[in-house]
Amino acid sequence: KVLILDFGSQVTQLIARRVREAAVYCEIHPNDVSDDFVRSFAPKAIILSGSHASTYEDHELRAPQAVYELGVPVLGICYGMFTMTVQLGGQVEASEHREFGYAEVRAHGHTQLLDGIQDFETPEKHGMLKVWMSHGDKVTSLPPGFKLMASTPSCPIAGMADESRRFYAVQFHPEVTHTLQGEALLRRFVRDIAGCKGDWQMGSYIDEAVARIREQVGSEEVILGLSGGVDSSVAAALIHRAIGDQLTCVFVDHGLLRLNEAQMVMDMFAGRLHARVVHVDASEQFLGKLAGVTDPERKRKIIGAEFVEVFQAEAKKLTNAKWLAQGTIYPDVVESGGTKTKKATTIKSHHNVGGLPETLGLKLLEPLRELFKDEVRALGVALGLPPDMVYRHPFPGPGLGVRILGDIRKEYADLLRRADAIFIEELRNTIDPATGKSWYGLTSQAFAVFLPVKSVGVMGDGRTYDYVVALRAVQTSDFMTADWAELPYALLKKVSSRIINEVRGINRVTYDVSSKPPATIEWE
Ligand code: XMP
Repeated sequence: KVLILDFGSQVTQLIARRVREAAVYCEIHPNDVSDDFVRSFAPKAIILSGSHASTYEDHELRAPQAVYELGVPVLGICYGMFTMTVQLGGQVEASEHREFGYAEVRAHGHTQLLDGIQDFETPEKHGMLKVWMSHGDKVTSLPPGFKLMASTPSCPIAGMADESRRFYAVQFHPEVTHTLQGEALLRRFVRDIAGCKGDWQMGSYIDEAVARIREQVGSEEVILGLSGGVDSSVAAALIHRAIGDQLTCVFVDHGLLRLNEAQMVMDMFAGRLHARVVHVDASEQFLGKLAGVTDPERKRKIIGAEFVEVFQAEAKKLTNAKWLAQGTIYPDVVESGGTKTKKATTIKSHHNVGGLPETLGLKLLEPLRELFKDEVRALGVALGLPPDMVYRHPFPGPGLGVRILGDIRKEYADLLRRADAIFIEELRNTIDPATGKSWYGLTSQAFAVFLPVKSVGVMGDGRTYDYVVALRAVQTSDFMTADWAELPYALLKKVSSRIINEVRGINRVTYDVSSKPPATIEWE
């Protein structure tokens, strides 16, 4: 396995992605771990990340000395190159030119890292690489034993290598996709130079994770808040695989779930996996607290607080539980660690099953902490969860509470659930001929929204005066920005006619054609 030491760069997790794409297992740890930690980790290679600090002089972060003493290959990236330089006896100086963004570097000499890796076919650009740079300072003198590996006009030492010790460093960022050959370079480092086999896959991950969970919890009991979402479901399946009945899942139904959701979760976990699941039907309690509340933020706060209360009451009943398990995944860790820039204003206060308070007095068990979303999904499938469940669109913690505008009533929730289920069913059943994928797969998130306004319609010979639903379907890669999906008219037509015919109480369907920004994905 490969050890990645994190100096706080925004893109450290991308290094892990690229390494795992080469089928090599890796873990990210902070740069200030002890020498003993590095030795006992027994890495086959070490990668030193970049840093968020714009210049080298901003701080004095160093890698543990053991990194250079283990005899394993080391790759320094950006700040990682600076710290390697300084620790091994070279020099770094502030530069007048800040280099940021696209650059072309020229490879020098023959190094195993860059040999044969290039972007251009033409002889005059032979050995040139298109890369992404972001740095202020630069290396001005190589540490003893190193030779020049790459340069740009403004950065004469953009890469260096000591091949006898297998130490390499690059000023640019191979982990970002703008560096076209970055993946090839990282693969070369971990597979060819470090000799990692490239046999890492989910099956072996399950065995390792199961062993780790058993070792961590011993014979103690664990509770987990199961929401039916991907992360908590996969965490539950994994922990159940490890410790069986020592795990109790608590599934809180706040009355704002999708159609048949509670049934599906119970069938899957209690029925098929034979896990211990406590099903708490708290819908009356939630709807009672929400009655008459129309402000979106207040609704969110009430649902969040109520959820914690219900869960805590259930947790207290399980007097033997010593652990609280959560489906925290790697991007959550990075986000809450504050390495991402914080938004200045709260657009929406998020409520998650993951956000339970630590006042429960339980130890935290987070077996998915190192995984990315797509890896969590692959793990779920490998654990036997149905692909339909594992590849679902995200569903917000407050559920239909933020999809029923204004006052929430049971009657509205029931209408919305049925309309939403029809929309999702048709998206799943409609295949796009150009891609062969269903429209459910082609959209990132899709749902119906209940509008508490009435409009006039005509049905048979009679006049109707009923509610409206809006359909929302978006495409996005990060949910920060999103485009509305250009669904085929025939699909919209079918969904609309089915909803109006099958859901008595709704006589009009509209399609939301707003992008984010300036709209948001959810309506509240
Ligand atoms: P917006 O509406 O802000 O949504 O564009 C972005 C993404 O976040 C989801 N979302 C939530 N997820 N708890 C969650 O777990 C919440 O309170 C919450 N609010 C919004 C939303 O569904 C979309 O995927």
